[in-house]
Amino acid sequence: MDRTAEKDVLFTKGELGAYSLPHRVIMAPLTRSRSKQPGNIPTEMNAKYYAQRSSAALIISEATQISPQGMGYAFTPGIHSNEQIEGWKKVTKAVHEKGSKIFLQMWHVGRISHSSLQPEGALPVAPSAIKAEGEAFTYQGLVPFETPRALETEEIPGIIQQYEQAARNAKEAGFDGVEVHAANGYLLDQFLRESTNKRTDAYGGSIENRSRLLLEVIEAVTSVWGPDKVGIRISPTGTFNSITDSDPEKTFGYLVDRLNLFGLAYLHVVEAFGEGPKPDFDFNRLRKSFQGPYIANGGYTADSARESLISGKSDFIAFGTKYIANPDLVERFKLGAPLNEADPNTFYGGNEKGYIDYPFMEVNAVSNE
Ligand code: PHB
Repeated sequence: MDRTAEKDVLFTKGELGAYSLPHRVIMAPLTRSRSKQPGNIPTEMNAKYYAQRSSAALIISEATQISPQGMGYAFTPGIHSNEQIEGWKKVTKAVHEKGSKIFLQMWHVGRISHSSLQPEGALPVAPSAIKAEGEAFTYQGLVPFETPRALETEEIPGIIQQYEQAARNAKEAGFDGVEVHAANGYLLDQFLRESTNKRTDAYGGSIENRSRLLLEVIEAVTSVWGPDKVGIRISPTGTFNSITDSDPEKTFGYLVDRLNLFGLAYLHVVEAFGEGPKPDFDFNRLRKSFQGPYIANGGYTADSARESLISGKSDFIAFGTKYIANPDLVERFKLGAPLNEADPNTFYGGNEKGYIDYPFMEVNAVSNE
């Protein structure tokens, strides 16, 4: 691939909603479970981690619970208390001082939680009382998921309110925008997909009804930020967190048509997550039907990212695992330098180790491959 400075497509400028970005490499949201206890508060160490990675054109924060009810994993940060807002200010300031931009990823996990993580030990909430397979990551270790409580129709405005308040808090914390997390089997995805949504009210049944909550959330969040500072993340083919849909092309085709009415900053698509066969889904068709920037994510290398950009299949590429281990991923891509390997043992929880101690490139250690 041609990596000479003027020709490398990865390093061309790109427009993303309200922002003009210097290149096409984005840091994907990554759960790292290292917020301060009690209170799930971002710290100076978190600020350092993000600052180290701020040669990314845009950083999307780790998934962040919008409310105490939205929490599903031990040690993940929130954006609902004053202490959390103050903690996030350290992060946004550190990233801005390095000249980058950062969006907050807004997260409500729905049923992917446990009563021990919920206010007053309540059951997690979901569109329907259907248990996920697998285990929750709690302060007591891994414990089997419980059967969640189905939300009453009357509770839905309260959920939308949680998103709206979190959007305001993100503004106060100094973020440049927000990403609504509608992927990977969490609350909004649970509403979208058939296997988790058996409701008989206006929020279940038809594709139109299953999309309703997400669209109402987008309406509320864009009313706070303006649409050009709001992105959305979806995973049409994902089965993580035991979720499925019999016709994702139809479900997400409808959704994208409706999202087009908002003029959002971007559509961020998890095209692959984890191991396993690539499902049959026409991402390029989805990309063409969305009238705005498309961020592709899922196992891309520098070269497959270039191919995607050149062939018009995407506008930006978000890198996840590679960003865990390579704070200077952009500089490495520019030079074709080798990458550090990420250590899965330190992905979630813990301290500096495997978090802010991955080495930067040494100036002379650049390969010519
Ligand atoms: C996780 O913590 O494993 C996790 C969180 C958010 C995602 C996906 C995975 O979107």
